[in-house]
Amino acid sequence: MAEALILTGFMGSGKTAVGKLLAEKLNRDFFDADPLVEERMGMPIPEIFEIHGEPEFRKAEETVVTGLLGEAAKSSRGAVISLGGGAVTIAAIYEKLVREPLVVLLDEDVDRAWQHARGGSRPLAADPEHFRSLYAERESIYRSVAKYIVDTRDLDAGGVADRIVELIHERTGTL
Ligand code: S3P
Repeated sequence: MAEALILTGFMGSGKTAVGKLLAEKLNRDFFDADPLVEERMGMPIPEIFEIHGEPEFRKAEETVVTGLLGEAAKSSRGAVISLGGGAVTIAAIYEKLVREPLVVLLDEDVDRAWQHARGGSRPLAADPEHFRSLYAERESIYRSVAKYIVDTRDLDAGGVADRIVELIHERTGTL
């Protein structure tokens, strides 16, 4: 069974778009964590934050991501999982990611990430200063779980997907 390919990175780094393309390219199952958290809670993420608060969102995210990692391990086609940007901050998920061999960090510059994320519905992308401080806080956490790092600055989603396949292939001879 193929190891799950797991995408992490800050909000606005393109995890969902790249994950979809990668799954198509590699003929793997695609799992996007955020919509599954919304499904579980029965409401969109902004409402989860507003009504239940961030800690409840993280609890649901922990359950969903733990389930996904288990499901992905059983998938015969192999899986691509796009995590929400804050999943790495959940201790139990962090511990699992440290042990996963194919965790890829989409390394996006904070200004570009803000340009992508601003004006949308993400509760943690409402204020540029807060967004920047979260980015600074998390930078080293992403790096400590990542086995592959792709600089997304000069690439579109297709280019990032190609680069990921290339990097993993170079190192492991698989994919
Ligand atoms: C969050 C990132 C979001 C979503 C939620 C919280 C974060 O996912 O899970 O709004 O804490 O960084 P994306 O990274 O897909 O935007």
